[in-house]
Amino acid sequence: MRIWKSVFPAPIAPRTERERKRVVLNHLLIHMRPVRVPERTLPFRHTFGLGGMAATLVGLLVLTGVLLMFVYEPSPDRAYASIQSLRREVRFGGLVRNVHYWSANLLVVITFFHLLRTFFTGAFHGARQFNWVLGVLLLLVVLAANFTGYLLPWDQLSFWAITIVTGMLDYVPLIGDGLVRVARGGAEIGAATLINFYTFHTTVIPVTLVGLMAFHFWRVRKAGGVVIPLEPDDDPEARPATTLFVPSLLLREFVTGLALVALVMVLAVAVDAGLGVPANPGMSPNPAKAPWYFLGLQELLLHFHPTWAVVVLPGLALLGLLAIPYLRYEEPLEGRWFVSETGRSLAVAGALAALALTPLWVLLDEYVTRWSEWLGGLPPGLAEGLVPAMVALGLTWAVIRLAGRQYGGNRQEILQAGFAFLATALVILTAVGVWFRGEGMALTWPWAP
Ligand code: HEM
Repeated sequence: MRIWKSVFPAPIAPRTERERKRVVLNHLLIHMRPVRVPERTLPFRHTFGLGGMAATLVGLLVLTGVLLMFVYEPSPDRAYASIQSLRREVRFGGLVRNVHYWSANLLVVITFFHLLRTFFTGAFHGARQFNWVLGVLLLLVVLAANFTGYLLPWDQLSFWAITIVTGMLDYVPLIGDGLVRVARGGAEIGAATLINFYTFHTTVIPVTLVGLMAFHFWRVRKAGGVVIPLEPDDDPEARPATTLFVPSLLLREFVTGLALVALVMVLAVAVDAGLGVPANPGMSPNPAKAPWYFLGLQELLLHFHPTWAVVVLPGLALLGLLAIPYLRYEEPLEGRWFVSETGRSLAVAGALAALALTPLWVLLDEYVTRWSEWLGGLPPGLAEGLVPAMVALGLTWAVIRLAGRQYGGNRQEILQAGFAFLATALVILTAVGVWFRGEGMALTWPWAP
């Protein structure tokens, strides 16, 4: 019953019937949004408009995606040529593709920042618990959308990136081989993979994404809008002053959306999405890298036993992410960035610790000693899996404990140290994969030839 109530809480009554009619009935499009919003939630710095930006990007993606479908041909013989003719022969074809490309990549970044914003303002308690879970699902769908689209140009980069990532599934114990076959539609990447990816990319995933977004917005509305910023001397019982969604918030959202569209247009005109040489299944490029948002995962593969890198560690991270709203907190605090000054210090300490320890780990593992050499007598699953994973988790734990001892803090504030540590580590591993891995995935400088 409690779970049911947290998913479908009782509706919040609008102030007057006239307001309800004027705002809700007359504006079909904003049915998903609250009628009144607390005034304090309006300043840009409270949410940075990140959720709205993500929604705007999805809108751009649908619009440009439909246009691309008029030209794109999902077969290995025609895919590359159809993109080439889109760029060369179709008026504004290249621009439409660039807008699609930039919107997709920005969506991953903006969704990640939105996750950070909701986490660090504690917007996952009470009525927002289940919306956090919906958000995590949205993040997975956004990654799936990007990933399935990555293959479609059928150039060397896309072909081998998808080969790398689908190949990672082979490391799942017992069912790995079957999973690879399902993902590829056969043993190798070919016509079946392309048509499967295309169908998922253009129908299954967008429908799921838009459906989940509608659920997500509705949950924001049911929670009475976004979380309300708290001031230290606020009376928690007092009702906050509210204002109508139209025009106060709608106007702000509209301006933010327009600014974002302008940014995407500038990027699309200035930086081309590019198209490499056609896919050659017989010749792997060196290095063969996953798409950038999976390079953190590929980097883990260089340091841990594959089962740990691909299954155990990401699985634990995902479960941890889903569990955040359902952990027990002494006093759930929402609405204030980092909860308190102590919370801010703890988060900064966690991020700084990751900034120092993650590159150190990468360098030590590359140049000083490999775990397998060090623990030569143990089976690989232990020497390159359990032991380094325990050391990494132990380090995370030590950082949290040390920071907690230094600054004090309640459970939510201490959790922020751990979250900041892991989020920063992920960003650094991704950056190492993008800029510092060269031939044979060895460490190199980004400017090296
Ligand atoms: C396509 C991806 C997503 C879209 C389009 C989206 C959209 C939105 C919008 C428009 C809002 C209200 C305004 C705002 O907070 O900026 C919102 C709130 C929220 N989102 Fe998302 N979101 C997405 C992904 C996520 C992710 C990955 C998470 C976290 C795991 C998340 C968790 C939340 C939560 C907890 C709220 C309520 C915030 C509050 O009450 O202050 N969302 N989202």
